[in-house]
Amino acid sequence: MEIESPAKWGPILIIGGSGRLGYFIAHQLLQQPECGRIVSVSRSNKIAHPCASVEYRVADIRERNSLGNVVREVMPETIINSAAPPHVDNLTPSFEFEQVFVKGQDILMALAQQVGTKYMICTTSSSVIEGYNHIEADETVPLWPESSSAFPYWVQRARAEKRLLAVDSTTFQTVSLRLPLIIGEREYAFVPAMLKTMKEGNTGLQIGSDQGLLATVSGNDAARAHILALRALMKPRNDAHGEAFNITGKTALSFWTMARIIWNEAGWQQEKAPSIIPEWAAKVIAVGSETIMRPFGIEPQLTMHMLRFMCNTWTYDGSKARDRLGYIPEDDVEDQLRKSVRWHLKHEAA
Ligand SMILES: NC(=O)c1ccc[n+]([C@@H]2O[C@H](COP(=O)([O-])OP(=O)(O)OC[C@H]3O[C@@H](n4cnc5c(N)ncnc54)[C@H](OP(=O)(O)O)[C@@H]3O)[C@@H](O)[C@H]2O)c1
Repeated sequence: MEIESPAKWGPILIIGGSGRLGYFIAHQLLQQPECGRIVSVSRSNKIAHPCASVEYRVADIRERNSLGNVVREVMPETIINSAAPPHVDNLTPSFEFEQVFVKGQDILMALAQQVGTKYMICTTSSSVIEGYNHIEADETVPLWPESSSAFPYWVQRARAEKRLLAVDSTTFQTVSLRLPLIIGEREYAFVPAMLKTMKEGNTGLQIGSDQGLLATVSGNDAARAHILALRALMKPRNDAHGEAFNITGKTALSFWTMARIIWNEAGWQQEKAPSIIPEWAAKVIAVGSETIMRPFGIEPQLTMHMLRFMCNTWTYDGSKARDRLGYIPEDDVEDQLRKSVRWHLKHEAA
């Protein structure tokens, strides 16, 4: 008896498909039996994380004409928007977050509706949620208001999510996937920063009491959530469209636990207990350095932004994604951190 192959999905356009998460998403999409054409869009023809069988195009999400040419050529059934300007340093001007997340997304949604795109999945950050301590926060917690002076990356992402979910309809279904720090192979921020700290000989210091917990997710799990979201949207009368979902990894670890796993994988051995700088003292240093150095355009080594990451809790309730998308994290956090170190050391040496 002949086994029928499943009906093919229409073209999928990934905005930011050349990036780290874009690579994992494309890679996993290609493993789905229904997957057909995948086209990626990013600003440059330098593809940071190439994936065989993906077609790469150059366009900026902020430019209606160049983006429109690609959208009209591909006629995507699905759009996955994972584009973001760099945000681990202070080099991206604040206005760019608004341009890419809000204006760029508006342009993309208008074009998508013109060509009859059915599904739009946007990757966003768990930090769209207002406040500096998120304890098992679920999707009902309020987002940063537009008027907030908090980190513009968070505020503009919150604004963009509201706009995305507001246009949702049964013919143009939208979903927002909120991710915490992405770890694992191809990681470019946290692990390299921790390895730099180790190289500089600063493993003997700990800031704060290490009571906070930090959610993470592996690139693989995060990508799988995108595929599950797409499958959920394709179901008639689904309860996924127009919704935001927290996508998290298996367990949350403290900042310094993660740092020591990373250092340990890179060959460090703890010889004595670290010297602890109390959180209040670190706050004085951070606020003082920001006040003195920022007016001269110098970024201090310790900022309040970093301190909140080190000392506060950032954890999320993933039950909505489990119940409605069937998303359950698979990867072990410690294992992913170790993999990330090995990947980084190998590629740094190459
Ligand atoms: N990294 C994390 O830990 C983390 C955590 C939570 C959420 N996220 C979100 O997950 C998504 C993917 O992150 P990632 O770590 O994979 O970042 P990434 O590697 O920097 O990828 C970002 C992609 O966006 C593209 N891009 C940037 N600006 C663009 C523009 N104006 N027009 C078109 N493409 C543009 C980049 O390519 P070009 O530079 O060549 O244009 C790149 O392909 C982002 O939305 C990010 O905010 C990341």
